[in-house]
Amino acid sequence: MSILCLAASPGRMRVGARNRRPTGGKEPTSRLDNARAAVDYSHFMSVLFFKRFLQRPFQIASIVPSSKALVKRVARKMDFSQPRVIAEYGPGEGVHSREIARRMSPDSHLLLFELDPAFSRDLERQFAGDRRVHVVHGDAVRLPQELTRRGIAHCDYILSGIPFSILKIDKKRTLLQKTHDALAPGGSFIIYQITNELKQHATLFAHAESEYFLQNIPPMFITVFQKAPALNSGRRREMEWTRFPANRQA
Ligand SMILES: C[S@@+](CC[C@H](N)C(=O)[O-])C[C@H]1O[C@@H](n2cnc3c(N)ncnc32)[C@H](O)[C@@H]1O
Repeated sequence: MSILCLAASPGRMRVGARNRRPTGGKEPTSRLDNARAAVDYSHFMSVLFFKRFLQRPFQIASIVPSSKALVKRVARKMDFSQPRVIAEYGPGEGVHSREIARRMSPDSHLLLFELDPAFSRDLERQFAGDRRVHVVHGDAVRLPQELTRRGIAHCDYILSGIPFSILKIDKKRTLLQKTHDALAPGGSFIIYQITNELKQHATLFAHAESEYFLQNIPPMFITVFQKAPALNSGRRREMEWTRFPANRQA
């Protein structure tokens, strides 16, 4: 299968019909038009992803965005039944961000930290009309300052798509510390990665659960690190590690 075939996977088709009209500005008139518009948009987004990968391979670290199945699985690890503050590191072209924004309540907040200028501009365009979503063009390490600037005390969830495994050890530790500190007691840090190497570094967290998720190219470990609830914060528990069989609910 060629790279462009992979890039045009149907995981991103639905967004196209909503956000862009690549049919020359004309409203799609039939189901077929809708499908064509969606496919064209999917190509545009995937081409953008692939181009950014060619430009900064170690920062982008993937040639295609997360699959729709992975996006749904990750979103199911968050409870959207009440207002939430969520931060996302490395949203890329926004495949997880759109799903989170779709599920979260009107008084929730989503902060997106994206290093890449082209992705950041595109995210700003996508969420221009959504006051709940704040795009920060910059390093995820800026999370504490960005929360303070907005008068937000803590995050309920922090989702990361950045290539943690290739970060230098000092940067990794700093980011983990800031992530832990920014979470409310009981809050969760959720990552999806090709390897599960972060577990050996993320010892600040009270609890962790991983699953190996096959419905993505490449397959990913999804890990949820949980910060100790307020009552337990003085007594740091030994990390508990549970490996789940592939694609079983964590
Ligand atoms: C593998 S892509 C994931 C994109 C998207 N989340 C997805 O699932 O398709 C990693 C993204 O993280 C961004 N990134 C890498 N390091 C970062 C950092 N320190 N802070 C913010 N974004 C970062 C890259 O620019 C890239 O967009």
